[in-house]
Amino acid sequence: MFAVYAESFSTESPLDGLVVGERPDPDVPDGWTTVTVKASALNHHDLWSLKGVGLKQDQLPMILGCDAAGIDEDGNEVVVHAVISQPGWTGDETLDPGRSLLSERYQGTFADRVAVPRANLVPKPASLSFEEAACLPTAWLTAYRMLFVQGGCKPGDTVLVQGAGGGVATALISLARAAGLRVLATSRDEAKRTKALELGAHEVFETGQRLPTTVDAVMETVGQATWLHSIRSLRPGGTLVTSGTTSGPKLEDAGLTRIFFLQLKVVGSTMGTRQELASLITMLDATGVRPVLDRTLPMDQAPEALAAMASGDVFGKIVLTR
Ligand SMILES: NC(=O)c1ccc[n+]([C@@H]2O[C@H](COP(=O)([O-])OP(=O)(O)OC[C@H]3O[C@@H](n4cnc5c(N)ncnc54)[C@H](OP(=O)(O)O)[C@@H]3O)[C@@H](O)[C@H]2O)c1
Repeated sequence: MFAVYAESFSTESPLDGLVVGERPDPDVPDGWTTVTVKASALNHHDLWSLKGVGLKQDQLPMILGCDAAGIDEDGNEVVVHAVISQPGWTGDETLDPGRSLLSERYQGTFADRVAVPRANLVPKPASLSFEEAACLPTAWLTAYRMLFVQGGCKPGDTVLVQGAGGGVATALISLARAAGLRVLATSRDEAKRTKALELGAHEVFETGQRLPTTVDAVMETVGQATWLHSIRSLRPGGTLVTSGTTSGPKLEDAGLTRIFFLQLKVVGSTMGTRQELASLITMLDATGVRPVLDRTLPMDQAPEALAAMASGDVFGKIVLTR
């Protein structure tokens, strides 16, 4: 079948290991099924995979892609939950120490078909297009859990979203606004700051700019470049939720004194549960909120799509269609 896969790793030139070609049809273990992929969305995770983060040489070739919306074997329109638990795991899938994401242990979604456990299928409402639905399982689910589960954000809270242009960040802005929060956002780029306002941010700031007020919570996916600003922006007792380190994980100053003196909470967040994905889908169906699509390309143009993401020249999600 058609597939876009990693054949080798390179930290300096990750796209060198990307192949648009053919791979065998997926293996389908007991309890699993296949989905015919109609749309998939790009995530920074796909670039990390091409750099060898989270994958070992002996797992190559690996079909990339965590996200899929498509048609199941019975002809139903479905969204695929990308977190694969160990057999027999019950409870919060994100806390399973043996969990993986599609394209880590099992082949990913940039292909004609993907194999997944039957329990990972969530019905797609007719109100969402395949392209919109494909954005939900990774970036949007991560944003949902950061805000409403790990961050405990409530209507009326003020939240800061760092790196407004990113896939997770645009989801954070849209979901926070729809849930009645006051939304502040930062971006390095003036055009992206303007788009963040159009998306629902109440105020926007240059990356690192001092805010006029402290906030109840900060949503962090940028890491090194914004961490200290995030810590300094919190009110006493406020919460920083971190789910990514796009600019790097190493910190010269983590703001530890401020963390203990102001009794700040620093909370990690990763993906979300199948139930949270179902709740996110219901929220979008009920509110009319939809993912911002930076661009939609046929899947064989994955190299161009990944190059745009690597350059940071993106606002929202890049979607690949079959
Ligand atoms: N833990 C999880 O479950 C999970 C799930 C999804 C994503 N993630 C992680 O979250 C991060 C974001 O993912 P994504 O898919 O949203 O990526 P993305 O679409 O590529 O967005 C990254 C954003 O980070 C900002 N940024 C990058 N370098 C920066 C720098 N040096 N200084 C300031 N801002 C910078 C940019 O915002 P501006 O250009 O607007 O400044 C950019 O739009 C990635 O590290 C990813 O691995 C984690």
